[in-house]
Amino acid sequence: MVSIKLVDISKTFGSIEALKNVNLEIHDGELFAILGPSGCGKTTLLRIIAGLEKPTKGRVYFDDIDVTNIPAEIRDVSMVFQFYALYPTTVFNNIALPLKSKGYSKIDIEKRVKEIAELVGIDKALKLHVDKLNVADKQKVALARAMAKEPRVYLFDEPLTILDPVTRVIMRSELKKLQQKLKQTIIYVTHDQIEALTLADRIAVMNFGVIEQVGTSWDVYNLPDTTFVGWFLGEPGMNFIEVAVDRDDLSIKIGSKKIFRDPRVGKKLLDLGLDKVLLGFRAENVVLVREALDVNAFNNITIDGVIRVIEFFGTHYVVNIEIEGFEFKVKLNVSEFNKLMLSENSKINALVKADKVCFFNLDNNRRIL
Ligand SMILES: Nc1ncnc2c1ncn2[C@@H]1O[C@H](COP(=O)(O)OP(=O)(O)O)[C@@H](O)[C@H]1O
Ligand SMILES: [Mg+2]
Repeated sequence: MVSIKLVDISKTFGSIEALKNVNLEIHDGELFAILGPSGCGKTTLLRIIAGLEKPTKGRVYFDDIDVTNIPAEIRDVSMVFQFYALYPTTVFNNIALPLKSKGYSKIDIEKRVKEIAELVGIDKALKLHVDKLNVADKQKVALARAMAKEPRVYLFDEPLTILDPVTRVIMRSELKKLQQKLKQTIIYVTHDQIEALTLADRIAVMNFGVIEQVGTSWDVYNLPDTTFVGWFLGEPGMNFIEVAVDRDDLSIKIGSKKIFRDPRVGKKLLDLGLDKVLLGFRAENVVLVREALDVNAFNNITIDGVIRVIEFFGTHYVVNIEIEGFEFKVKLNVSEFNKLMLSENSKINALVKADKVCFFNLDNNRRIL
């Protein structure tokens, strides 16, 4: 096992800045996810950790040893790619090959291949040619081969992306079980927020070559450091509405409508020199009610808007509400929705608990409160 530290890593390809000043510390034995949209630099970062790519600037440390100039073979890592690359031979041979090159005896190879194959659930197929396997089993073989090397670190680059949605869910929980048995340092790259949220001990959220936030699933979901993190996580992503602080009574307003009156919040924002900020809240943290709301309630944000669009997702509804030219989304389970009997173009009152909202700086999109 090993801990990994990246210090001021930048990488350019011609005029493309794939990574910009990345700093990360990955702890010994943790499953660390790197999450971000396609093209944000995830694979490049992983390849730099593996030693397959040299950073333009910055250093890579394994257990405080500078490995920046140490080639991939010597770093002792195993990488599992999005598209499995298997040898055109049997499952057994695929898993055995790294062991042969490590100089294991024939008996030890047999024993170890069986062990690993059982662990990933491919032991029944050892004698089969890999061409005979389905996609999920092929990816299991790739996983088993990576494990055969007994590396110090596993690097997974979107290993479930090629699987169909049903198999992906099964493999996701298989991976979770596997990680509990392995207790190894695993860096798991994905663009799929559910994979990152469910599997990882900690997540780094990336965008355009920059790490926007590092934290536990709970942190990045509930307390996003930036509007990008709030928007990228969640289905739908976080709602953002531009609000102003009223200088007279310190209330918070959307356009001319007062939605919140906690002078402490208003004062704090004005003290920071911010009279316009972005209000952020999650669609599932909104309660809809028909009766008029008490705008003076200290502990609630209260918004009276008009329902524009209602979307049905099978398990839940998403209701799009407009206020003063801004739209936000509310997520309701089916029974909540049915009780309310909502219809498009009708008025509705929305309520968000004050401890469930965030405020972001409009200039740099960073969270203030
Ligand atoms: N070998 C390369 N040559 C030129 N550009 C590259 C190379 N590898 C990656 N890039 C560019 O760097 C950026 C980040 O790519 P990548 O790390 O593959 O992102 P991700 O894995 O998050 O999709 C992209 O703009 C991509 O086109
Ligand atoms: Mg990639």
